[in-house]
Amino acid sequence: MTDHTRAREALQAVRSEVAKAVVGQDAAVTGLLIGLLSRGHVLLEGVPGVAKTLLVRTLATALSIDTRRVQFTPDLMPGDVTGSMIFDARTTEFAFRPGPVFTNLLLADEINRTPPKTQAALLEAMEERQVTVDGTSRPLPEPFLVAATQNPVEYEGTYPLPEAQLDRFLLKVVLPVPPRDQEIEVISRHAHGFDPRDLAAAGVRAVASGEDLLAGALAVQTVGVAPEVVAYVVDLCRATRTAPSLSLGASPRGATALLATARAWAWLNGRDFVTPDDVKTLAHATLAHRLSLRPEAELEGVSVGAVLQTALDAVPVPR
Ligand SMILES: Nc1ncnc2c1ncn2[C@@H]1O[C@H](COP(=O)(O)OP(=O)(O)OP(=O)(O)O)[C@@H](O)[C@H]1O
Ligand SMILES: [Mg+2]
Repeated sequence: MTDHTRAREALQAVRSEVAKAVVGQDAAVTGLLIGLLSRGHVLLEGVPGVAKTLLVRTLATALSIDTRRVQFTPDLMPGDVTGSMIFDARTTEFAFRPGPVFTNLLLADEINRTPPKTQAALLEAMEERQVTVDGTSRPLPEPFLVAATQNPVEYEGTYPLPEAQLDRFLLKVVLPVPPRDQEIEVISRHAHGFDPRDLAAAGVRAVASGEDLLAGALAVQTVGVAPEVVAYVVDLCRATRTAPSLSLGASPRGATALLATARAWAWLNGRDFVTPDDVKTLAHATLAHRLSLRPEAELEGVSVGAVLQTALDAVPVPR
């Protein structure tokens, strides 16, 4: 068995491992796996209590990678995320104490509750994969993925991420409130002793490693993309720029992101080429958060998702 095949099987096994703790939320699991394979960060959106935190914790356990969690409170300082220079009384010198960003999987909980300065420190680390303090740059570990959560309800005292920063997230996945049958399953698991704080007791084991992720990421780079599929991605993004309801369409960064996520999805599904269907499947998660409605459209109750769907229906699919 080649490294690639092994890596794919290991990452597919992660899914069933996560399912031992998290009921449903398949789109979010897929989104996080695609983020890890494409070296992109993921924004998880959902109301409180839909297992955003549980999902990221379980994923880290199933992957045997290092994970840290930061609660983004209003008084959090940039140095609380990146680390800072502290005085060591023993050596009488300043030494760098790494912040929680020095990890493989950073859960940035409620990112929109912290002021822009601290958000910016995180987003800079995300983009550059290094932290610069006192003129010295320190690289972050590999793999490095930020899973940031935000609440869709705009509470008082939140700082919505500016569009330019949203664009830096490869994907945004919405975690819905579970359908009735899944909610029953959640509650019965709890009734039968499931404890979200004890994932080992729930039987969650490490089934893939950081090496599998790196091998997978390399393999994704070999997935073939036909010129027609590239053109399809571009046409879709161009259609969002001319959509009358939108004030901001997908940027070329968005187009690049869509191709990257579609490739990772193709690879996860055991294919070595991207189909237009892969592109369609990833379009909402990869593009929707990069689009902005005109105020008039917003007042009329138009949604970004609906506009994107119109573009998907209108742009001819290559055969
Ligand atoms: N789909 C689910 N599968 C399993 N457990 C679930 C699911 N949805 C909710 N739960 C239960 O609800 C609890 C709350 O989940 P969690 O703390 O992860 O939510 P959250 O989305 O991070 O909420 P918040 O926005 O308040 O941080 C979990 O510990 C779990 O017991
Ligand atoms: Mg949470």
